[in-house]
Amino acid sequence: MSDVIGGIFTSHVPAIGNAIAKGLQDDPYWKPFFAGYRPVQRWLAAQRPDVAVVFYNDHGLNFFLDKMPTFAIGAAATYRNADEGWGLPVAAPFEGAQALSWHLIEALVADDFDMTVCQEMLVDHALVVPFNLCWPGADNRAVKIVPIAINTVQHPLPSPQRCLALGRAVGRALASWGGDERIVVLGTGGLSHQLDGERAGFLNPDYDRFCLDAIGPDPERLTHHSALDIIELAGSQGIEILNWIAARGALGEHVAEITRNYHIPISNTAAATLVLEARDHADRMEQDRRAA
Ligand code: DHB
Ligand code: FE
Repeated sequence: MSDVIGGIFTSHVPAIGNAIAKGLQDDPYWKPFFAGYRPVQRWLAAQRPDVAVVFYNDHGLNFFLDKMPTFAIGAAATYRNADEGWGLPVAAPFEGAQALSWHLIEALVADDFDMTVCQEMLVDHALVVPFNLCWPGADNRAVKIVPIAINTVQHPLPSPQRCLALGRAVGRALASWGGDERIVVLGTGGLSHQLDGERAGFLNPDYDRFCLDAIGPDPERLTHHSALDIIELAGSQGIEILNWIAARGALGEHVAEITRNYHIPISNTAAATLVLEARDHADRMEQDRRAA
């Protein structure tokens, strides 16, 4: 039986990819940020997931303003990366967990989520940077992916409530999957940041801490704000928290915090890292240990 081990929540700032490419991890500017990923990498080394279901937002690489699906899911055998203008090295293609993608698509559409189904899909820095943070070096190619893109770019945006419901539907679909993979869920982007307009550079540590504290034990609290409220609170790109909310929904009701880091600023963003282990998974491991 497949097993959802937990979730990793992380910023995806392109400058991080540049720092990795240049080997700047121990530079004083970067060190406190990269140090936050060592416990994430240790947890992953112990948990050894086979598949990552990744909630992220595309920034104009695969979808542009002319066609912007609210919720899209990949059904490809491989996903290519390309340079979308940040000058980052182009990552090697990612292998898709294609059979699991189709199972999720069937289950989500049956559950009234009208997904845009993508049999070809380019993945941008919002997927590549988190992979390079979590699985540095070449190891990340051992994990197959199911990418799920949420529109955080063009209005109207989906509501936080709907994103949580989508994540919960993904969680139900993963529970009904007959495979034996160990599955990790990623939510990328955020926390507070605004890249343009009069409030460019805006950050809100109070709101960020509220998100980090509430998302594990009580994710509903993040849905009491509308998408427009969140833009007010977190900046126009801080709305990427929608990806975190959806990812949290896929983890089941109870989670345990494994590690967190919060570091201001990385580029224009309040950078955050959080790992939540799914309690159902931990209980199953404990039962297995007792049975052995
Ligand atoms: C930055 C943050 C993002 O989330 C992004 O997609 C691009 C740039 C930044 O802070 O520079
Ligand atoms: Fe972004």
